[in-house]
Amino acid sequence: MSLRGRRVIVSAGPTFEDLDPVRFIGNRSSGKMGFAVADAAARQGAEVVLVAGPVALPTPANVTRIDVRSAAQMHAAVLAALPADVYIGAAAVADFTPRAVAPGKIKKQAGMDTLVLELVRTPDILAEVAVHPRRPRLVVGFAAETDHVEQYARGKLEKKQLDLIAANRVGVAGSGFESDENALAVYGRDGFERALGPAPKIQLADNLLELISTRLG
Ligand code: CTP
Ligand code: CA
Repeated sequence: MSLRGRRVIVSAGPTFEDLDPVRFIGNRSSGKMGFAVADAAARQGAEVVLVAGPVALPTPANVTRIDVRSAAQMHAAVLAALPADVYIGAAAVADFTPRAVAPGKIKKQAGMDTLVLELVRTPDILAEVAVHPRRPRLVVGFAAETDHVEQYARGKLEKKQLDLIAANRVGVAGSGFESDENALAVYGRDGFERALGPAPKIQLADNLLELISTRLG
């Protein structure tokens, strides 16, 4: 199976939500899994657009990379990259962002023992792509969970109207964030189910893309 002639959009990495000019709220995504997925898609012949949050990773060969910082920027870049045959949402998108970015550095005041931040929801990029008028034929999500992995992943698969979701357990040694190894459980809305790994992220990405290209036919 090959992805020649197919256009694949991958989002990867964390997003950073600025509080002021020197601080942000971020998360522990290294971007390695998403970059491996983009690399695998390109090696299987696809035209690949990689929308990347702030990560320190080299761009895979034959991949068009668009760098973004915030969830709002990632949202705009992914929608602008449509149409595509496949969208793979591998980014750890911030769920909340500060209501406003302070124009100057936030300073402590005497007697200020707590700081309350007001955060507002970010757009759900994956859920939006899945109901978009130019919906890709396959919309694939990731779910990083610390517990009840299958239950939460299946819930997201249904709620966001995805075709596939790749779930992994995070917060345990040797898998998930920052690690080079991972294990995925892939669930389809049509009842499909497959365990991949534990294996290096590069190999998992290859297996996931093979699965995707088989489904595209
Ligand atoms: N996602 C997205 N936009 C968001 C939040 C999540 O596109 N604003 C995507 C992620 O890229 C991932 C999938 O949704 O592919 C699941 O992300 P996850 O954080 O596991 O799920 P949430 O729906 O955000 O639920 P929660 O964090 O509450 O578990
Ligand atoms: Ca989330």
